[in-house]
Amino acid sequence: MTETVLVLGGAGYIGTALVARLLRDTKFNVRVLDDLMYGGDSLLPYFNFKERFSFIRGDIRKVDPTGLLRGVDYVVNVAALVGEPICKKFPVEATQINLDANIRMAEASERAGVKQFVFSSTCSNYGLSKSDELIDEAGELQPISLYAETKVQSEQKLLHDFKKMKVTVLRFATAYGLASRVRFDLLLHEFIRDAWKKKKIVVYGAESWRPMVHVDDIARGIITVLGNNKDGAEVYNVGSNNQNFRKIELANIVAKRLGAEIESLPTIKDPRNYKVSFDKISKKFGYNTLFDPVIATDQIAGALETGVIDDRILFESVNVKQEG
Ligand SMILES: NC(=O)c1ccc[n+]([C@@H]2O[C@H](COP(=O)([O-])OP(=O)(O)OC[C@H]3O[C@@H](n4cnc5c(N)ncnc54)[C@H](O)[C@@H]3O)[C@@H](O)[C@H]2O)c1
Repeated sequence: MTETVLVLGGAGYIGTALVARLLRDTKFNVRVLDDLMYGGDSLLPYFNFKERFSFIRGDIRKVDPTGLLRGVDYVVNVAALVGEPICKKFPVEATQINLDANIRMAEASERAGVKQFVFSSTCSNYGLSKSDELIDEAGELQPISLYAETKVQSEQKLLHDFKKMKVTVLRFATAYGLASRVRFDLLLHEFIRDAWKKKKIVVYGAESWRPMVHVDDIARGIITVLGNNKDGAEVYNVGSNNQNFRKIELANIVAKRLGAEIESLPTIKDPRNYKVSFDKISKKFGYNTLFDPVIATDQIAGALETGVIDDRILFESVNVKQEG
């Protein structure tokens, strides 16, 4: 019988990239639950997959899991308040959604006989690293934001409290690239927006390291682990060793393609600095990434130049709108 994947948060940036890949590259049926915080346009193409795709509108804090989980083999949770700005603005909801509801869904999944629960965590958990060495999955976690704190606490519960159901924790690098919901509040995309609109990129903490990964490579990473976790609870970083960049290198890529001036300021607005090893997922599954920031910058620049991406997308596809 065809197996079913439930994607919690499937209308989001990573969620839509995942749903596209699941429908195109696998035989799974796909069920999406999302409360459509950022609208539902991103899901329109998937309804054409008829009986393989279904959508339920709901909030992971409140939804009755019984019907939702009936017939579900795998759960992927990419529903969250994502990034520090929105977590800072709504701290109570951030803990409720990113931590409490995540664990509630995992408990209900285990009771319903789900085979595997895949949790979307983040390399932001590594926080501040003083060393230039690559940090692997066993490295120290130093969450320096409420956002990362909710992720670290979720991980700890998922890795220790679930014995019957397989749990896979994926720590994604910072995403970039196009999907049917795009976000312009991510590092590379902010540089692209500023280069396009102001012909100037301001870089804070230019020498800080940040691992990067294309959203479609994240989707492929999630599919790689589905059904492949034979060892109980496991953690994998998702990205590639050769996509650890200093912020200034990313600014240079964007400036070269879009012709902008770069101003590097000593102020560090975001103190995160970490260089990550992605050997584990690559050695275990032969996983490798297919995109890089040069290709993605060129694609997004092309979409801006042809008007596919307009000001509405540039300024409204963000998790927290800037004042003024
Ligand atoms: N984008 C990145 O760079 C990145 C990096 C590392 C980890 N992650 C993780 O990946 C996951 C997805 O991130 P994203 O970039 O796609 O974010 P996103 O904001 O685009 O998507 C989140 C989705 O969750 C939904 N959602 C939020 N609260 C909900 C609730 N209470 N009930 C139901 N649905 C709800 C939203 O409507 C949205 O569709 C998150 O867990 C995030 O922490 C993202």
